[in-house]
Amino acid sequence: MAYLIQIVEVGPRDGLQNDPADLSTAQKLEFISRLEECGVTRMESGSFVSPKAVPKMADSAEVFAGLDRTRAARHIALALNEKGMRRAIDAKADEINFVLVAGEGFGRRNQGMSPEESADMLERCAPLAHEAGIPLAATISVAFGDPYDGEVSPAVLARLAARADKLGVSELALGDTIGVATPWDVRDRLTEVREAAPEMTLRMHFHDTRGAALANVHAAVEAGVDVIDASCGGIGGCPFAPAATGNVATEDVVYMLERAGFETGIDLSKMIATAKWLEIVLGHPVASSLSKAGGFPD
Ligand code: COA
Ligand code: ZN
Repeated sequence: MAYLIQIVEVGPRDGLQNDPADLSTAQKLEFISRLEECGVTRMESGSFVSPKAVPKMADSAEVFAGLDRTRAARHIALALNEKGMRRAIDAKADEINFVLVAGEGFGRRNQGMSPEESADMLERCAPLAHEAGIPLAATISVAFGDPYDGEVSPAVLARLAARADKLGVSELALGDTIGVATPWDVRDRLTEVREAAPEMTLRMHFHDTRGAALANVHAAVEAGVDVIDASCGGIGGCPFAPAATGNVATEDVVYMLERAGFETGIDLSKMIATAKWLEIVLGHPVASSLSKAGGFPD
């Protein structure tokens, strides 16, 4: 049996939060439904943050209310503080993803917190998810570099990972929010984080800002990671990270992995068709390679 790599589709959240297009709630739900038809089993479907900070996610409660829960996909809600946690719980999120931050410059601008303060906030938020019986994951944003402060020390990641582990976080992602990671950096940081939290399931979140995202996925899989974030079409970015471009594209990751013999459970041609549909809805081209070139062989 082929080795399974799970793709967490982040297009409806990380993808849409920074896109110039304003999708209606119905269009977001259609995007989610199309992704489910592609075989996506886990996806970030919304974000319970301040609507002033991220206006594009202001309708996340309506999006969650409109989900077809008879389908198999698990819907993840993003939360950064207690209010966000409560809203995610009220929306009946299947999982909550909390955002820790590895750099002070980005942390202050994105969520008004230093790295330690984001971990303190997680300490207040984790019990809310546990009491509600909702699995809690976390992403360490700017884990490979901060757009304002520059280099981020791997020791910060180790400290945050150890705290997340103690607080009952079941899965931790290293987020390359501004696309500065290299494959060797990926390998080294994974080693560091594993030493700090040996039992933790690790997930990786890459942006393709500087062209290394697929190479970084390869490095992560070679290092034993089997959960990867990606967005249909490669859309996305963070409003608080200047020049940050899209996530690594789901169809590009699926193509690379499946051609190498891994399984993802995702239908490549349907994902490419969804990326093309997205180009029409968003009103601009998407960045992925596979949406232009198609798969191989046919
Ligand atoms: N959902 C909705 N509104 C929220 C909220 C949440 N989770 N958290 C805070 N707010 C509102 C408050 O009610 C308050 O509203 P008011 O001005 O009408 O009274 C306002 O936001 C400020 O609240 P405060 O607790 O002082 O938060 P803050 O100003 O320190 O901001 C965050 C902290 C985390 C809420 C804010 O920085 C944020 O939403 N950032 C989102 C960043 C993001 O999503 N980045 C991309 C993904 S990583
Ligand atoms: Zn991201």
